[in-house]
Amino acid sequence: MKILLVGGGGREHAIAESLAKSSHCPKVYCVSELINPGIRKIVSSGGGEYFRGDTNDPSAVVGAALRCSPDFVFVGPEEPNFHGIPDALEDKGIPCIGASKEVAELELSKASMRDLQWKYKIPGRLWYKKFKTFEEAVPYIEEYAESIALKPARQAGGKGVKVIEDFQVYLQDDKRKVKKEHAESIVNEYMKGYDDIEYKLLIEERVWGPEYTVQCFTDGRTVVPMPAVQDNKHAFDGDLGPETGGMGSISCCMNLRYGVEDERAVITEGEYQRSAEIVKMMIDAIQRETGKKYHGISAGQMMLTSVWGPTVIEMYSRLGDPEAANVLTMLKTDLVDICEAIICEDLNKVKVEFEDQAVAVKAVCPEGYPDRRDLAKGHPVSISAPSNSGGILWASAEDTGNGVVTGGSRVVECIGTGDTLPEASARAEELCMGVGLSDGWKLFHRSDIGTEKSILRRIQLGNMAREIYQYRERKGLLGKRMIWIPGKGLMEVG
Ligand code: GLY
Repeated sequence: MKILLVGGGGREHAIAESLAKSSHCPKVYCVSELINPGIRKIVSSGGGEYFRGDTNDPSAVVGAALRCSPDFVFVGPEEPNFHGIPDALEDKGIPCIGASKEVAELELSKASMRDLQWKYKIPGRLWYKKFKTFEEAVPYIEEYAESIALKPARQAGGKGVKVIEDFQVYLQDDKRKVKKEHAESIVNEYMKGYDDIEYKLLIEERVWGPEYTVQCFTDGRTVVPMPAVQDNKHAFDGDLGPETGGMGSISCCMNLRYGVEDERAVITEGEYQRSAEIVKMMIDAIQRETGKKYHGISAGQMMLTSVWGPTVIEMYSRLGDPEAANVLTMLKTDLVDICEAIICEDLNKVKVEFEDQAVAVKAVCPEGYPDRRDLAKGHPVSISAPSNSGGILWASAEDTGNGVVTGGSRVVECIGTGDTLPEASARAEELCMGVGLSDGWKLFHRSDIGTEKSILRRIQLGNMAREIYQYRERKGLLGKRMIWIPGKGLMEVG
């Protein structure tokens, strides 16, 4: 059996390891921009081939596929989905695990995602306004003094999202100014260069609560949820610093528990089930809307909010990075069996199982990431014992044939496992300590991911949100908003 993997980051290294473990003993091939040292090792040890190429270019990927004639292709990142790679492969009769361009719209356009969620009345929907230009947004920002999240309306690697609290009347003029400045930078900077989308800016109501990702395999008929994972987006300990693609992630059992034998959890089993149902509803809705089958992975990047309980923040059309490392470490079922079932649309026949364990993943990054990737690039990497396999995934790294250099983003992802999250975090921490740059350039990572203090804070945040949304639920007010209208009093809307 031959499998072509598209993409060369940490997520794809995790996928390659999982595929290589299969009882089908596949030959793994890969096409990516950088030559990932971990994937290269898997490719060469199985007798496959590594193609360097632009993963967003259908002719490059189809060309690689025609050279190796794979049984199927597994697309890792989102951009190839947005560029129609799965469609181009299927046109040539090559089966693909990857969302077609039309269904990947759920991730590409946050405005389309919200339109769909409201059209189909899917729970966990936030109020939003979408804008094509900055100028269109100005009157709205001028008129409404409210706490909001400003977002690039396109998937932009987690960059550009800003939440602005707006409670005090005496600060409203200053807040308006900040909102306008950031809205302008979203349209003119973060969305610059993206011409594949109509709406550029999204303004959403501000919500709070713990975030988590529920990733699902789907063949378009059956949806199989994987364990919930919590990504940590901010660059520095204590959730400080700029937003990144993800500095590390935690998971334990299906619903983000503190430990395997410990009932404390960020979300309850019921909330986990409801989140998975929401992802299924989104998949059903996009299939109905487009008439296209969804073959691959869909994920809800969720928040447990006081308004709704499980609430959709974004959708992914692929595995998250680093969330993939968590779920693939926990996966007991043969990934190739799952892929084959997706292709044949009989996923309902596969029993997909996960290990009850805690997994903590920590990304190690060169200084400069995320804002000055030019500075973070080209530094020689050294990894000391424990050995550079098993527990360490290569991410943005280039195998030059004469050593490995940083690619400018997260260079490795260190995976620790255990019976509790703090235990898993401590193991991942040990691995991070063994990663260095031999030219003296500095690396950083978040040491707080999965620690007792950090996980207990997230559990507490979940408890606070739960108390309020369950009260709303009991009163029949779930998803409703109460606003004060002068002369009329408190009105229920939504
Ligand atoms: N972990 C964030 C992402 O995969 O986009």
